[in-house]
Amino acid sequence: MIKLLYGRMFRDGLDQEHGLARDRVQELARRFADVQDEVRRRRAAGEYGFYKLVDQGPTVNAIRTFADGLGQAHDHILVLGIGGSALGTKALLNALRPPAWNELDDERRDFFPRLTVLENVDPTSVKAALDRIDPRRVLVNVISKSGGTAETMAQYLVVRGWLEQALGAAAYRHLVFTTDPTRGALRELAQRDRIATLDVPPEVGGRFSVLSPVGLLPAALVGIDIEGLLDGARRALERAEIDDLLQNPPALYAALHWEADTSQRARIHVLMPYTDRLRELAEWYRQLWAESLGKRVNRAGHQVHSGPTPVAAVGATDQHSQVQLFMEGPFDKVITFLTVESLGVDVEIPRPSSGSELPAELAYLPGHTLGELLQAECEATSTALAQMGRMNCTLRLPDLTAATIGEAIMFFQLATGYAGVWYGIDPFDQPGVELGKRLTYAAMGRAGYEPMDSHPSSATDEA
Ligand code: PA5
Repeated sequence: MIKLLYGRMFRDGLDQEHGLARDRVQELARRFADVQDEVRRRRAAGEYGFYKLVDQGPTVNAIRTFADGLGQAHDHILVLGIGGSALGTKALLNALRPPAWNELDDERRDFFPRLTVLENVDPTSVKAALDRIDPRRVLVNVISKSGGTAETMAQYLVVRGWLEQALGAAAYRHLVFTTDPTRGALRELAQRDRIATLDVPPEVGGRFSVLSPVGLLPAALVGIDIEGLLDGARRALERAEIDDLLQNPPALYAALHWEADTSQRARIHVLMPYTDRLRELAEWYRQLWAESLGKRVNRAGHQVHSGPTPVAAVGATDQHSQVQLFMEGPFDKVITFLTVESLGVDVEIPRPSSGSELPAELAYLPGHTLGELLQAECEATSTALAQMGRMNCTLRLPDLTAATIGEAIMFFQLATGYAGVWYGIDPFDQPGVELGKRLTYAAMGRAGYEPMDSHPSSATDEA
């Protein structure tokens, strides 16, 4: 079970000057009754659709059948998608498959396929991926809830042309779409061209959809235990039913971060896993927290321009990059460490076998393991931050199993849903991305693309 250690959010756990007053937590706990009520009311009204993702038995069976059958006839899975349709899959691959998955030979991948997620429309990465992948051996999973996102549709048209050139009329057999059950251009194309499809539940938004077919199909295709993911998610959900804030970790995480933002101006929320295996999970969380909470208006329609800024970091790497700022910069951050009790592997730091003596200042290393060093660095960084008056907390994961990752994913989704209530905003829309989309369509709609004058100014404003 995931544990939230939060004593270092309070003044008495820090330098006695900075951080939250201890008694604030009682006030938050008292107010939580209304927050929990609002979540329940909105769930009953059809919002918060991601809660239902733990009950999708028939969908899981369909995914399993597809993955164990047709899926295994391919040795490369190419996912086309962006934002919530891509980041979760990358996080699952990173956490639950061995590092450098695509570089391993068939045997070391247990004969599961390689997986590439083509997130961007940068021609340099698209061309490189298509040059590398054999179209005869690929299964392309096009993922778009709306079925019309410009980047994903452009990727699709490029990839479809590439498939048709190599395979002719058989191209459609290498495609599977994950999209809305009835709406959108992708659904229309699937029906017209007899392409296999899976549904994105309409009530689940993109960034909350990794535990739907959006993430589950690619995960199952590469051998990830998707039933385990959902078991873990269920565990998180059970704890979120608890009405006592102090016993409900995702709700407490949301409340403490909201309190730190609004009463201490700690508007930067850093998620810092101490393992490379959760690097992509931190990137996924960044989108979830940013796109859900960064809003111009609140539920009442008043301008609030609210929202914390999430930052992803990785320990110990970022101790030599961002941690200087976290220690001594402005008091505007909360740092959440994400630690794993058992990484499943460790590497001993040996003494030189040549018999040569180590310089005295390195003598502390041999006899320990890299895992011990990583853990010591995390504990030392947390303690040092506390001594410098910097709010920090730790989410402790027991291991890197599918159940634990499913629990962590659901934990952050639940926390985001609760934070939406504390901030008084709708965490499930994203009106701010619409304007950029409309301007892109306008520019591409012209005959022959001409760059927009995106910085209208006199020539003196150019350097
Ligand atoms: O969270 C969201 O809603 C977005 O990040 C979407 O996932 C992203 O814009 C892609 O949308 P779609 O899946 O409709 O292509």
